[in-house]
Amino acid sequence: MIETKKLSLFLVILISMISCHKQTQNLSETEISNDPMVELLAKMTLEEKIGQMTQYNGFWDSTGPAPKEGDAKEKYDHLKSGRVGSMLNVSGVKEVRKLQEIAVKETRLGIPIIFGLDVIHGHKTLAPIPLAEVASWDLDAIEQSARMGAEEASARGINWTFAPMVDISRDARWGRVMEGAGEDPYLGSLVGKARVRGFQGTDLSKNNTIAATAKHFAGYGFAESGRDYNAADVGTVTLFNTILPPFKACVDENVATVMNAFNTLNGIPATGDEYLQRDILKGEWGFEGFIISDWGSGAEMIAHGFAKDLEHAAILAANAGSDMDMESYAFVKHLATAVDSGHVDIKHIDDSVLRILRIKEALGLFDDPYRYCDKEREKTVPYHEDHATLVRDMAKKSIVLLKNEDRTLPLSTEQKNIVVIGDLAQEKTSPLGSWRIGSDDGTAISVIEGLEAKDVKFKYKSGPALISQPASFINEVIINKDDRTGFDAAVKAAKKADVVVMVLGEHGFQSGEGRSRTDLGFPGMQQELLEAVKEVNDNIVLVVMSGRPLVLTWAEENVPAIVQAWQLGTESGNAIADVLFGEYNPSGKLPMTFPRDVGQVPIYYNKLNTGRPGPSDLVFWSHYIDESNNPLYPFGYGLSYTQYKYSGLKAVASGPKSITVDLTVSNVGEMAGEEVVQLYIQDKVASVSRPIKELKGFEKIMLQPGESKVVSFELTEQELGFFNTKGTFIFEPGEFTVMVGPNSRDLSTTTIEL
Ligand code: BGC
Repeated sequence: MIETKKLSLFLVILISMISCHKQTQNLSETEISNDPMVELLAKMTLEEKIGQMTQYNGFWDSTGPAPKEGDAKEKYDHLKSGRVGSMLNVSGVKEVRKLQEIAVKETRLGIPIIFGLDVIHGHKTLAPIPLAEVASWDLDAIEQSARMGAEEASARGINWTFAPMVDISRDARWGRVMEGAGEDPYLGSLVGKARVRGFQGTDLSKNNTIAATAKHFAGYGFAESGRDYNAADVGTVTLFNTILPPFKACVDENVATVMNAFNTLNGIPATGDEYLQRDILKGEWGFEGFIISDWGSGAEMIAHGFAKDLEHAAILAANAGSDMDMESYAFVKHLATAVDSGHVDIKHIDDSVLRILRIKEALGLFDDPYRYCDKEREKTVPYHEDHATLVRDMAKKSIVLLKNEDRTLPLSTEQKNIVVIGDLAQEKTSPLGSWRIGSDDGTAISVIEGLEAKDVKFKYKSGPALISQPASFINEVIINKDDRTGFDAAVKAAKKADVVVMVLGEHGFQSGEGRSRTDLGFPGMQQELLEAVKEVNDNIVLVVMSGRPLVLTWAEENVPAIVQAWQLGTESGNAIADVLFGEYNPSGKLPMTFPRDVGQVPIYYNKLNTGRPGPSDLVFWSHYIDESNNPLYPFGYGLSYTQYKYSGLKAVASGPKSITVDLTVSNVGEMAGEEVVQLYIQDKVASVSRPIKELKGFEKIMLQPGESKVVSFELTEQELGFFNTKGTFIFEPGEFTVMVGPNSRDLSTTTIEL
């Protein structure tokens, strides 16, 4: 199959090279092949080919007339003349159909458009933000959540999502950590695969599956200082062992598309990086889908000082292997000239176009361009009871119990005198997070509503407002720093309470794209309010809402119970109430390290040792003089209302390059619960220094009180090997430490020699 494709491509390239590109190719079927996409390519003019490589943001107002002037007019004319291959940010059957009809009925070749959108954690119904979902460590649930997003979006005309984001990041200052899978490449790879499976299903041509995008290739999560869009500078070992594996995993899962990135990686803007795109992705990994640029990232190569103008940017991007240009107009304006002048080889154009056509073909768009335009199906969105249940389950699983001194939690619904404090407790928009294009403001269940639904009796005092102006996707969030209205009333109410539930954290629009922070504390007056409440009442349950790890050091030292509740989507308040009142026993585990202080960032568990790990009596060891090296909560950490015991760790060589690991986990508490059993290794001595521990396996198991289960893992060359300084994967025999436990800190250890 691949051979036939290669042969067909070769023929078409040959043909294109000897033909005049401005004219329609006039070739008989037998001259080329039986491959309809190759045939189609052969019929295309250069302009039409470049059209396929062009993606425009939506411009069409379905209720109004066709655009008559400005940018929109130009886009409309291009659409009519077959110079647009894809659109983003158009949704709803009516709108999509209208544009598709133009592409299919009014252009010379009638090639359908592929419609892309950021379907990141659901569409109308929202699941928890991606980082939160990963805290579930439940790959099936994560897959189902992506499936739900695909169901809803595809019913509204969409057939392509710009997800999953698989950028590994170790820096909580970077606002986009909310969209990824956290700091670990092993977990990130499995989550990436699950999400691709969820979006794409087993048959892309079904009307409820959509093409996925692994993004942002590559290094975007390593933005210097955690500042979005900033340069990334990483060595080969980190690139190959940490950044690339989740992308490779998605390619292995047949992800349809890959998005490149805004950033420079080691001085080269990702969009113009031939090594990454041609040599690695399309070459070594054999990726057969297409590469979409990030929004305007082609043009941004000018600001990077890499391209001298937009034409140069078009040349660099096309030559480097970028197949489709999102909104930088570089290809549509300049690629034809670049081909004419010999700066871009037509074979690159043909390769790109064929890749794009093949994805459209796989989506079934050539059989039925209106496949995703079923008005009846669209009516099943927005409200779907099954989806509400699904996202509530996902939200419960995503919650991480960080502290529970003296079994403060769970609370009883009979509990008298509960006071709930915090502006975020009443929020119906913030829990939706910042990536929620398809959903409407105010559609999340607030914590207050969640408690009311349980018939809990409580008093609510919001305290000061968190924001002073309504927040939006495109503007900076304005935090209230001076209006103290409600502060004293909240403290007064807290004084008389038996238990105070404080809901504090970031607003949903404080994390996400363009939302880096230098301060990882509670914004506004929240910390002050927390401390004031603590003065009058010790019995505080702190519910933290955030899109990233926050610094919770003061809370850890002063508050008996802490629940990490992220931004949990549509069913947020119900899920939080389920956990607070023990209807669900928390099982979430952190996918990112929580620092004690922002000065420790980037902080991550799978670090290298130093030559001076210490501690030592003298200062000459690797440490801070004003803070511990340790995080507040380590990667993989999370408590339960029950207790688990780990015993009987055994590791034996099952071959020259493999290890079998067995252990027993018991529920020694009083409540049924799910535990994420984690396996880490260390390659003790290697030709490249290896991390002090690396996650290489996990299993989530359900245990009834008193129940024990044996958990087994098989470590093979794939888990035991690593990429060396040349980017080559190698296995080196020797001594390995094998560690198992409930998180990356509290581990039972054994060693084994291979
Ligand atoms: C983001 C991408 C996103 C694209 C389209 C960009 O700003 O970086 O992740 O898919 O916009 O919305």
